[in-house]
Amino acid sequence: MLVSTLDPAPSPRVGIVVTDSYPLEDLDHDTGPLVEALRARGVDAQATVWHDEDVDWADYALLVLRSPWDYPERVEEFTAWLARVGAATTVLNEPALVAWNLDKRYLAQLEQLGVAVVPTTYRTTVDEVARDLSAFPDAAHVVLKPSVSAGARDTGLFRAGDPGALELAARVVTGGGVVMVQPEVPELSAGREKALYLIDGELTHAIAKGALLAPGGGLLGGTYEEHPERVAVTPDEAAFAHRVLAAVDQATGLGAPLYARIDVVDSAEHGLVLLEAELFEPALNLHVAPEVTDVVAAAIARRLASAPARVG
Ligand SMILES: Nc1ncnc2c1ncn2[C@@H]1O[C@H](COP(=O)(O)OP(=O)(O)O)[C@@H](O)[C@H]1O
Ligand SMILES: [Mg+2]
Repeated sequence: MLVSTLDPAPSPRVGIVVTDSYPLEDLDHDTGPLVEALRARGVDAQATVWHDEDVDWADYALLVLRSPWDYPERVEEFTAWLARVGAATTVLNEPALVAWNLDKRYLAQLEQLGVAVVPTTYRTTVDEVARDLSAFPDAAHVVLKPSVSAGARDTGLFRAGDPGALELAARVVTGGGVVMVQPEVPELSAGREKALYLIDGELTHAIAKGALLAPGGGLLGGTYEEHPERVAVTPDEAAFAHRVLAAVDQATGLGAPLYARIDVVDSAEHGLVLLEAELFEPALNLHVAPEVTDVVAAAIARRLASAPARVG
């Protein structure tokens, strides 16, 4: 009798990339249900902490970046990690797309490709910011933010003549950053920002986030707290989100991302405009759209099936 001494090939593993120290207000509601949905589909999935030194990243056929939300405090370590694991296995969204998406100057590129964005200047000196601010009526409100940021860090809503605006600009510039200057979009301050989710290029769900910035600088209530509420998507918003992803593809050549959150606002003054396209680590808010969980799992399973096999 012929007895095979070969073990069955281990099934390819999927790692959902998370962290172990979340900012207090930022809980990951997605990974638990997502891992369950993947396992229900027969995919060997587990959550993996990006800075866990005991992990051999090449053991994973696919890594899905989901909630490494402590990276802003360790950006260099994170980007070095991303380069390292990107060379060892397939990482989604693609590290090249993540790198492109980290600096909001991509908005200027998308605007050139025909996407309507919140009017923005990008400045590297306080003098330039001062000149921009003096062009606004004194009582008008403006928003300043760094081009590399998340969770509204160093983002402030000020009267154009408020010295606090220049203080924020100075802080960003001193840290080597680029300051984005925008008119206040009142619909954003009224909590009407909509986040539209697309999985493999298909619209799945949308949430409204609520207002975040306190007038005069800082955050409403002192901490960053989103209050996601599921909302319907208009045909115009859906078409807009698809146009944004088409422009991202034109700019990067990377095709439809596995996941995308397209943040828009319908503004009386500017029309329907893009605030940001979050292609790196958006919370998916699956707890307010539970049926989307398996849509994400199915998309990951498809990507796994087409991921190149790597030899050890
Ligand atoms: N031009 C603006 N007018 C009014 N509110 C704004 C404006 N830009 C940003 N905000 C508020 O600040 C929040 C964070 O800004 P955003 O550009 O989304 O950066 P990030 O989410 O990457 O920190 C937004 O969700 C919105 O509530
Ligand atoms: Mg945002």
